[in-house]
Amino acid sequence: MTLILGIETSCDETAAAVVEDGRTVWSSVVSSQVDLHARFGGVVPEVASRAHVELITPVVAEALVEAGIELRDLDAVAACHGPGLAGALLVGVAAAKGLALAADLPYVGVNHLEAHLHAAWLEDPDLPLPLAVLIVSGGHTMTVVMEDHGRYRVVGQTVDDAAGEAFDKVARHLGLGYPGGPAIDRLAREGDPTAVRFPRAMPGDADFSFAGLKTAVVNHTRREPDTALADVAASFQEAVVDQLVVKLVATADEAGAPVLALGGGVAANSRLRAKVAEAASATGRSVFLPPPSLCTDNGAMIAATAWWRLRADGPTPLDAGADPNLKLT
Ligand code: KG4
Ligand code: ZN
Repeated sequence: MTLILGIETSCDETAAAVVEDGRTVWSSVVSSQVDLHARFGGVVPEVASRAHVELITPVVAEALVEAGIELRDLDAVAACHGPGLAGALLVGVAAAKGLALAADLPYVGVNHLEAHLHAAWLEDPDLPLPLAVLIVSGGHTMTVVMEDHGRYRVVGQTVDDAAGEAFDKVARHLGLGYPGGPAIDRLAREGDPTAVRFPRAMPGDADFSFAGLKTAVVNHTRREPDTALADVAASFQEAVVDQLVVKLVATADEAGAPVLALGGGVAANSRLRAKVAEAASATGRSVFLPPPSLCTDNGAMIAATAWWRLRADGPTPLDAGADPNLKLT
């Protein structure tokens, strides 16, 4: 049995978790900084870094206590080393290295995007490969074919905003607060998704675009201020979800993948989950929808990925830093 502590500080969640053999979660603690950033309408990198510094020690301590273990019971310490905010990443990486040194354990640096892919394995270790995965978060929107652990092919990416970023920006425009995704998701339930026909960008292309959609929403609310907010929210969400689902299915078609999977914060969106499930059954596929707690940033996905990485590549050297622009492949 291998027990790994995983630390995640790439954006505005300070998180730590203990996971056994890449699949069994012993503890998972997530301290969200949402309240700190809400009054700015988005994540402020310097505020995030400072909050991570304050939170990292208690969050790690709580993860160990919840797991009922001590530092010396661990087999490795892992941290997300990119992509993400430079200052924020450094806090988690430095903490993990310090703990690894103190307890004479291997350190493993983990790619945040690879971790979102691996969240699926925490729930279902028997997923058939290749897997067609849509990673949708505040910073990323991409379709990936996962051929095997460590073997990924990025098929399409956003050419401008990430899907989560579009949710956050449109929510701010509509006065719904931050983070925008959950607010739009909630309001859209009371709205009509066919009320306004917003554009679906880049049809027939593997890549994504959301900047034009955001502008279309802004223009619509200026031109027709009487449209019910819930209808605008539902119609905007429908346009995002349509674009995401079409491209995920195309990726699965091209790769011959029998399962559609989701990862990243936007994967918590209820309409996206329903439409991906519909598309899977319409195309004779099964679907993997991680629980929302594994979609948004967490330490368990870092610890799970570290287990695969440690077996494949061994420990990461302690002089390796953090890379804000780390790529998946
Ligand atoms: O993966 P994540 O926690 O952090 C990043 O790596 O970015 O994703 C955060 C993003 C935010 O943009 C947030 O608005 C979005 O995920 N999000 C949602 C929902 N829950 C979170 N977007 C749409 N619907 C939701 N229910
Ligand atoms: Zn993320």
